[in-house]
Amino acid sequence: MPRIAAYDDVKAGRTRREIPGGYAWRTEFMMPPKDNFTQPHAYLAERSSGNVLRTHYHVIDQFQIIVSGGGVMGKHKLAIPAVHFSRAYTPYGPLIPNKDDVGFITLRPRRDTGASFLPEANEKLKNTPGRKPWQATEMPVFGGAADVAVQPFSRIQADDGLAAFALTLKPGASTTAPSPAGTNGQFLIVTKGCLVHDGKHHKALTIVQVNADEAPFNLQAGADGMELLALNFPRESARPTIANVPLVSSKSGARVWQCQLCAFVYDEALGMPTDGLPPGTRWEDVPADWVCPDCATGKSEFS
Ligand SMILES: [Fe+2]
Repeated sequence: MPRIAAYDDVKAGRTRREIPGGYAWRTEFMMPPKDNFTQPHAYLAERSSGNVLRTHYHVIDQFQIIVSGGGVMGKHKLAIPAVHFSRAYTPYGPLIPNKDDVGFITLRPRRDTGASFLPEANEKLKNTPGRKPWQATEMPVFGGAADVAVQPFSRIQADDGLAAFALTLKPGASTTAPSPAGTNGQFLIVTKGCLVHDGKHHKALTIVQVNADEAPFNLQAGADGMELLALNFPRESARPTIANVPLVSSKSGARVWQCQLCAFVYDEALGMPTDGLPPGTRWEDVPADWVCPDCATGKSEFS
């Protein structure tokens, strides 16, 4: 049976703790027991401006959805309702909330064993065999003329089951969610409007968790319609080894440099105009204080 948790059901458990430079709130939507590392985990994290969450990684694949405020993560811009996906052992950050603070849903197919922070964990990370570091941030595209619009994400998708979809349902419309078959489980997140299920109304934010062997979930929108994200985790058994991007420059003669921590690629032929590095900028001419856009590590970690 799919599990459903609406914010209204869980908000009584919202707890606050002090963190360097500010405070953080945590609201658990679906929390496995402390010693259970097989069940899915879903929670809302809210962090105040003034706090910087350092670059770190987890040993489990993860989706994050911005639901309030905003900020940056590395050089990834975070705005409502951006979706960030990171494969296991992919460092990301630092997370810096803007003045409106930042709130994000974190989703994992099973409970994590805790964050590992860089640079302390650099060597441990590089010596992890079989990892396939990769991350992306993408804005969902909602809307459309039809009663039901389904828009697949263009970047967050792969042939190992990874996929993400933005669904928009007009008032009262119904459909079935994308199939969870061939994935490592699925989360459905109602980001706007209301989900009607078994006669009960679940307002945004509502999170539904569907296992890979369960039928596609029936969706029915309430009187105000519904916007929903369907997020499919990749099969863990399908994870191949590192260097998941072809290390060939877009132009002959130019070299590519890859971050050995997060797998980000710098292509000399393309440069990085957003960082003031025009196409053709050779690695020697990239400033010494330039940092990886994904994990903020320095040039010395590129090879
Ligand atoms: Fe990196």
